Formats: sequence, structure tokens, C-alpha cells
Amino acid sequence: MVHRVIPLLDQRNHATQALRSATPVDGPLLDTLHRPLHDLRISVTDRCNFRCSYCMPKAVFDKDYPYLPHSALLSFEEITRVARVAVAQGVRKIRLTGGEPLLRKNIEVLVAQLAALRTPDGQPLDLTLTTNGALLARKAQALKDAGLQRLTVSLDGLDDRIFRQMNDVDFPVRDVLDGLDAAHRAGLAHIKVNMVVQRGTNDHEILPMARHFKGSGNTLRFIEYMDVGATNGWRMDQVVPSREVLQTLQTEWALRPLAPAAPGETAQRWAYADGSGEIGLISSVTQAFCADCSRARLSTDGKLYLCLFATQGHDLRSLLRGDASEDQLAGALQHIWQGRSDRYSALRAALPFETGTGAKRVEMSYIGG
Ligand code: GTP
Ligand code: 5AD
Ligand code: SF4
Ligand code: SF4
Repeated sequence: MVHRVIPLLDQRNHATQALRSATPVDGPLLDTLHRPLHDLRISVTDRCNFRCSYCMPKAVFDKDYPYLPHSALLSFEEITRVARVAVAQGVRKIRLTGGEPLLRKNIEVLVAQLAALRTPDGQPLDLTLTTNGALLARKAQALKDAGLQRLTVSLDGLDDRIFRQMNDVDFPVRDVLDGLDAAHRAGLAHIKVNMVVQRGTNDHEILPMARHFKGSGNTLRFIEYMDVGATNGWRMDQVVPSREVLQTLQTEWALRPLAPAAPGETAQRWAYADGSGEIGLISSVTQAFCADCSRARLSTDGKLYLCLFATQGHDLRSLLRGDASEDQLAGALQHIWQGRSDRYSALRAALPFETGTGAKRVEMSYIGG
């Protein structure tokens, strides 16, 4: 049975948001497990034009779903303020997500504001965006011109029938492939293509997808289907372990492991032995990568979530819309991050499916993938 889920109102103790000034931190800002804050993922809309059953199943996300009203959304200026403070506290990578971020009106204006931010030593950020590609052909050039550096496109298969079925809005795969071409023409090279693999649905697309993207300059990454949110009816037997994906690929090509490009990375990288590029395996179910997780998520309505599987967020919007100074915002961010102990995936194996708190996990479309 599918339960209707309404994003939780913030129930965290407001003491965490008591106005305090930032204190000079000696070295990187660390959480209780000594993980730095490096990556901020910002959800700019909780809406999407697709209805992937593993993320926004149609039966739940229908016309009566209580999406956030416009007034609840952080404005571009509010988002940029949070980002500026986060960058001063150590964030080096910002990813715009959703929902579908290209549905947010004038998203390129936000990209330009974020692209203008600089780290304390004067460097630009690693600024990227995750899209389903539906609007990419129209938007790629404007995004590139605004200063977007990288791009990730979600694509779960090349077989048009399967793709239309998975996005559940009958969207043709050709249009996403055209979007990828447009992004290349605009100069957004080295695109990552993310494929969520679900047993019995698109696992037979692993090899066709690899054949298509091998040597294309795009990096294909296979993602284990996760038990994120509370609406997708996740079952372990639908997860295809990365180990199995690798074995499938190895029936056709020789692959060798690559060292991580950065600490805390989601994907294990493997190179084609013939030099025609690499693939990634994102194994959040079978090999959790919480130990180095340096990712914070800012929801569409301005709550900071410390884990993809969190049930509650820290309300920054009330600070932004109150009279908090930048220094006080920094103080709140420090306090929140220093209290972080989340490592859901690492603990998952030992937990029942429901966490037992009575609280429902928030949806990925709301806090960003
Ligand atoms: P790159 O910097 O381009 O490598 O991006 P990334 O891998 O950090 O981000 P991306 O959005 O491409 O992540 C790919 C997928 O990995 C997401 O869609 C999620 O399915 C999963 N994922 C990302 N971050 C986390 C995380 O913190 N925890 C878990 N469990 N899964 C994550
Ligand atoms: N499991 C794994 N990844 C998911 N995504 C959304 N829902 C899930 C899930 N249940 C990720 C996919 C998609 C991105 C927007 O979010 O990578 O491409
Ligand atoms: Fe939309 Fe991406 Fe979720 Fe699919 S996975 S419903 S494209 S946000
Ligand atoms: Fe980070 Fe939570 Fe994902 Fe673990 S489950 S990697 S702590 S977001």
C-alpha cells in the first residue's frame, strides 16, 4: 500500500538555530565523525516532469500532491547567501538538483550568481547540476554561458519503450539524447550519465548503455536502487549489486580499478583497459560510503539535511528571513555540522526498514538526489 507523504515540518530543537556568531575554526569544519563539509547539494524545486517510480511514483505524486507553494521556496538571493556562507566554511562543490532543476524559472540566473562565488583562496567552485535531460536541448547553452562547469544527466536506458515506462510520462529517449548532444555542443564536456539499475526493469540495459557511452567522453555510472524516501516500495530483491553490474560488464570488456578522484566520492571508478574512458559504480546499498560523507543538502524550502535518509532538517529559511547576519548564519551552520553523526547507509543493514521513530523519511525530490 502506498502512503501519502507530506514533507515534515521542522521539528528539530530550535536551540540549534539560536543566534550565535561563527567561531574561527582551526582547520576544516568537522562533524562528530571527523568528516569535513565539502559538498552542498541544493534542491531548487520539489517538482518534476517525470514520474520515475523509484523516486516520484505517480500514485503518490499526483495532481493533489501538496507541492510547496512559491512563497515557501528559497529565492535565488537566499540560496546564494547560504552558499556564500557555506563556501566560507569549507564547501567547494555545489550541485543544483530537484526535483528537476531545469523546471525552476530562470535557473541560469542562479547559476550565474553561484558561479561568481569564490573560495577563501580565490578559487571558483566546482559547480554542477543534475537533470533528467528533458529540457536540456533548450537550456544547455544558457547554463554554460552562465558559468556551469559540469553536468550530470539521469538516464535509465536506451530502449525507448523501457525509458518511457520508467519515466512514466511517456517521454521519448531521443529527446534526452538530443539534450546530451546540445550540452556537448555548448561546451559542457565530460558529462556524467547516471543510471539507476532496477532488477527486472532495466537490468538488461546495462550492456547497451555501456556500449553506447563507451568512448563518447561521457562517464556512465550505475547506481544501486536505494530505499530512499518512503513512497517507492523499495525491495532488496530489486537491487542489482554493483558487483553484479561489474561482472556483466566484464563479459564484454577488460576493466581496471581507478583510485578515487577525491575523498568521500560516491562512485568507485573503473577504466576500460583499451583506454576508451571509465565507468562508475555507486553502491550505496551493498557498500555504504558514509565514512567519508561530506555532503549536506539544502531543501527547496531552506532546511539543511545532513543525510539523504534524514527525517528532519534544520530550518535556515527562518534565519534568512529573520534578521540574522552572515556571521550568525555561519555560526548556525557550524553548530549544525559539528553536531552531525548521520551514517544511515552504514547502519541500514542492522536497522528495520522503518527507523522506529515514527517519523517518515523525506523524499529525494524534496532534498535533492
Ligand atoms: P560527482 O561529483 O559528479 O561525482 O557527483 P556525485 O556522485 O557526488 O553526485 P550525483 O548526484 O551524481 O550522485 C549520484 C547518485 O549517487 C545520486 O543520484 C544518488 O543516487 C547517490 N548519492 C549521491 N550522494 C549520496 C549520498 O550522500 N548518500 C547516498 N546513500 N547516495 C548518494
Ligand atoms: N535510488 C537510487 N537513486 C535514486 N535517485 C532518485 N531516486 C533514487 C533511488 N531510489 C537518483 C538518481 C536520479 C537522481 C535524480 O536521483 O540518480 O538520477
Ligand atoms: Fe524526476 Fe529525477 Fe526523480 Fe525521475 S529521478 S522523478 S527525473 S527527480
Ligand atoms: Fe552520507 Fe547519509 Fe548517504 Fe551515508 S547515507 S553517504 S551519511 S547521505
